[in-house]
Amino acid sequence: MAAASSYSPHASSRIASTPTHLIPLSESHKSLSFSSQLQILSLKSLHTTSKPHLQRVSAVVRTELGSEAMEVDISLSPRVNSVKPSKTVAITDQATALAQAGVPVIRLAAGEPDFDTPAVIAEAGINAIREGHTRYTPNAGTLELRKAICHKLKEENGISYTPDQVLVSNGAKQSIVQAVLAVCSPGDEVVIPAPFWVSYPEMARLADATPVIVPTSISENFLLDPKVLESKLSEKSRLLILCSPSNPTGSVYPRKLLEQIAEIVARHPRLLVMSDEIYEHIIYAPATHTSFASLPGMWDRTLTVNGFSKAFAMTGWRLGYVAGPKHFVAACGKIQSQSTSGASSISQKAGVAALGLGYAGGEAVSTMVKAFRERRDVLVKSFGELEGVKISEPQGAFYLFLDFSSYYGSKVDGFGVINGSESLCRYLLDKAQVALVPGDAFGDDSCIRISYAESLTTLQEAVERIKEALIPIKSAIIV
Ligand SMILES: Cc1ncc(COP(=O)(O)O)c(C=O)c1O
Repeated sequence: MAAASSYSPHASSRIASTPTHLIPLSESHKSLSFSSQLQILSLKSLHTTSKPHLQRVSAVVRTELGSEAMEVDISLSPRVNSVKPSKTVAITDQATALAQAGVPVIRLAAGEPDFDTPAVIAEAGINAIREGHTRYTPNAGTLELRKAICHKLKEENGISYTPDQVLVSNGAKQSIVQAVLAVCSPGDEVVIPAPFWVSYPEMARLADATPVIVPTSISENFLLDPKVLESKLSEKSRLLILCSPSNPTGSVYPRKLLEQIAEIVARHPRLLVMSDEIYEHIIYAPATHTSFASLPGMWDRTLTVNGFSKAFAMTGWRLGYVAGPKHFVAACGKIQSQSTSGASSISQKAGVAALGLGYAGGEAVSTMVKAFRERRDVLVKSFGELEGVKISEPQGAFYLFLDFSSYYGSKVDGFGVINGSESLCRYLLDKAQVALVPGDAFGDDSCIRISYAESLTTLQEAVERIKEALIPIKSAIIV
């Protein structure tokens, strides 16, 4: 291993006073990735602490161009070190790489509709460019779009907002992280029912807040038990995140249950609610959507998040929004103004066209929802025939969250032990060439998530492959 020989003047003055020890490259920091121009010769820890995310690390590097080796402090911010990378993205990337290498992988891991953006919306985007709507918009979004959002929220959700209570962002994801950063202080708790969308706990960590996970059960359709919720609340609880229809379970909160939750929330003066309603339109009757902010007493403490990605098949347009009391929305806007500024002017024009499609997205959206429903029915039936698999029939979104835990504990020849959702997903990718997301990424290791944003024929092929691949597991030796 090369010794740390030449230091930059800045790095060496800081490094000199701190105890150091070398870290073997092969054992540590395997996950570090660098620009292909940097070759790492050795790593050393600049100071040791029991908290891994506070560890400072220095590397001796050399550029590919063959310049002299130099020492660079490659430590990352503790904030980044405390955040886990997204497993959904990791498995999607792995499946994409396999597909590019010619392996016929069926990709059911990503959370995006397989439909094209409806033509009317796409045309509005094209016209926006033609008509020169290509400049910065106000940070909060164009007044035209914010007015259209207010109109939608009033007509469809029964909640009244004015345009200054709406902030348009680059996707709902940005709206959510900004809201978490805007309202949480270090030490605050963010209460998240599990299974949860992968980003919620990580966003809480980014805000130096603590995620508090509230488990739910498949036998209760993954819906929060109000008593369990109440037992997790304290004066530290700052934000409760609700997601209905839910990613990953497809559960939809009935109004009555939301009312019970609202009663509990009302007893905790510090507690705010973020209601993520991005799958609102992808819902299967008789289930209906209720906006949390529309419940008595909840408007003042609710941040309603919604967006265009899912219902309007607009994932790549990056458009979402948050609506709530001006005090909080303005704080989110402040963060946005110092990070990304307003969303794309072109996407905002497309967003206006999307909201102009009519109630709940009109026929364009209902056609997609009809297709999702048909796929859900086929999948629920097919997996229902599989011994040992538990299902809660989703009422919305486009995911099935299936309990495969009866398959855990088996040793499969040529693969090894299947000891949880991650190894089961690796096995299915390997053996069936179907990419799925392990439930542990969503806080429930007994399940795996299947996205049915794919054609019926592809889904049927995937089910056949999964069933085939599961045969040796059931007959395998339980270890
Ligand atoms: C529950 C949930 N909320 C928010 C988002 C973010 O959506 P976007 O940033 O594409 O608007 C997603 C995307 O997967 C989601 O599943």
